[in-house]
Amino acid sequence: MTASAARPRLLTGDRPTGPLHLGHLVGSLDTRVALQDVHECFIIVADLHTLTTRPKKPELAQLPRFVRDVVLDQLAVGLDPAKVTFYLQSGVPAVYDLAILFQMLVPKARLEQVKSLHSMARAAALPEGAMTMGLLGYPVLQAADILMARATVVPVGLDNEEHITIARECATVFNELYGEVFPLTEATISRWPALPGVAEGIGGSGAKMSKSLGNAVYLSDDVETVARKLRTLTYDDADRRAPSGAALLVFARAFLGDQEAAQMGSELVSGALSVGAAHDAIIAAVERRLAPIRERRREFADQGGLLEEIIVDGTIRAREVANRTLQNAREAMGLEGLWAGLVAATEARAKARKHPYANL
Ligand code: TRP
Repeated sequence: MTASAARPRLLTGDRPTGPLHLGHLVGSLDTRVALQDVHECFIIVADLHTLTTRPKKPELAQLPRFVRDVVLDQLAVGLDPAKVTFYLQSGVPAVYDLAILFQMLVPKARLEQVKSLHSMARAAALPEGAMTMGLLGYPVLQAADILMARATVVPVGLDNEEHITIARECATVFNELYGEVFPLTEATISRWPALPGVAEGIGGSGAKMSKSLGNAVYLSDDVETVARKLRTLTYDDADRRAPSGAALLVFARAFLGDQEAAQMGSELVSGALSVGAAHDAIIAAVERRLAPIRERRREFADQGGLLEEIIVDGTIRAREVANRTLQNAREAMGLEGLWAGLVAATEARAKARKHPYANL
């Protein structure tokens, strides 16, 4: 781990809203696995961000299971806990403090322009005018996540791109006002912004794969379920006219590669290949990815307490990093000095009373 100091810091992660699916695999997990050897990686489990649209008691009650799901899925795809710091966002209180400091620097009108926040509000069926401070402040909290770790590399989907811009803006304005404390972060947008869903649920294969749309193939699905879901993919004229092409061929590109997918496309058109045979090829390719993932998930899940230990260790480490950054930010702003001045002025009286304060 000593060499890690020189590596660029990477921070990314997910809201714990359920198990991860094939869309996550090609859109972000593959990138995380590839980058873990050349970056010092922090993987956030963003439970506070989940509260922005799901603050109710029954929703909170699902967090323990979903937090386990997202970490287990990431270990299963090959993220190595010896290289990566997995942490629980709500277990790092210094991030709340940093978020408050950044709130002073971001105009409300700037946040009101962020499209992803309005889509999240719509997806959560929030009525017009019910936007909370928390949801409006979503990108500011995300800026605190990124900047607490001084991360410069943040691989995210397109829907998060503007949030990373806001993190840069927070860093820029903070540095201008108080001195150079934060680095400027880059968003790395995935080559695969969105895998379409399977033809199930309210989303179907016309929408991106998403748990809430009911069209996801989960990394934790068993062999039969995966095959059944993938066989729902259709290939007709309407599918071909879809904006990103037929979902079936997007799957082929993602799991068989561009060349084989192109060949599959022309053979489907000429009739040389049946849709059933195309399904078979895609199912086999997806299974080549999922079989080792299932195997590793079982290994981690079988060792009672290991998963929790990985999260607790990581969160303790994230706390240390965040506390240091918060301290730097407070020093730069003069808040540390303000407090230290008050404390210093009490010294003589405390001595006279023989009663110094503890824990200052
Ligand atoms: N906003 C991310 C999502 O869409 C989750 C997240 C929270 C995140 N904090 C982050 C991603 C910091 C990258 C960096 O689920």
